Amino acid sequence: MSDAPRLRILVVGASGELGRAIVAELSPRHEIITAGSKSGDIRIDIADPESVAAGLTAAGPLDAVACAAGAVNFTPLGAIAPASIAQSVYGLGLANKLMGQVNLTLAARDILREEGSITLIAGVLADDVIVAGSSASMVNGALESFVRAAAIELPRGLRINAVSPTVFEESMAAYGPFFRGYDPVPVLRAARAFSKSIEGRQTGQVYKVI
Ligand SMILES: NC(=O)c1ccc[n+]([C@@H]2O[C@H](COP(=O)([O-])OP(=O)(O)OC[C@H]3O[C@@H](n4cnc5c(N)ncnc54)[C@H](OP(=O)(O)O)[C@@H]3O)[C@@H](O)[C@H]2O)c1
Repeated sequence: MSDAPRLRILVVGASGELGRAIVAELSPRHEIITAGSKSGDIRIDIADPESVAAGLTAAGPLDAVACAAGAVNFTPLGAIAPASIAQSVYGLGLANKLMGQVNLTLAARDILREEGSITLIAGVLADDVIVAGSSASMVNGALESFVRAAAIELPRGLRINAVSPTVFEESMAAYGPFFRGYDPVPVLRAARAFSKSIEGRQTGQVYKVI
């Protein structure tokens, strides 16, 4: 077996349910820099492009950026009125989970070491919809398509993948009422998909963890 390199990996959203599992999975083999809007080694608010750029600069040389953050609204369609993005219920998901991760990707493109990787978080609602989930479905679907498209244009051998998990067993206490009948997965399985993205050589993939 060849000696795999020790990578320098930024995990955004590292203090959350998914982020903690990613850190636990990768930290035995790699150097992890943690980030969040209120926690971590570095403060990054993914909804603020200037904060994203400053945070990536502050992180120093990186081989991988992994995102385990991203907020959306859960609002029934009947309660959503037409509005501009700034005024819309959809604005949160678009500005935070979608454009936050798109901006993270664009900033990472410019600072990652050669052959580095970017791994984004989407979710099962891209495919398997629930009531009040139109924002999450829209954003997750857009992220999956973005990753497939961005992969063919990234320079310097950079790679990008998305992890798209179903609800986590560990989150069922909070999200159970939204996900009746879904078969939750241990969050560790989603963390392993991040490992596959970061430590493998695939690109443009959407890892469905269901
Ligand atoms: N939980 C599930 O069952 C599940 C299933 C499928 C997909 N997902 C997706 O996985 C992602 C993480 O979910 P989770 O349940 O692990 O969330 P979580 O436990 O609420 O953790 C969220 C993490 O993101 C950070 N964060 C929040 N706002 C941020 C911002 N504006 N900029 C940067 N970091 C921010 C938080 O740290 P700070 O407080 O320091 O900002 C925290 O570390 C979400 O995109 C979610 O849609 C979750």
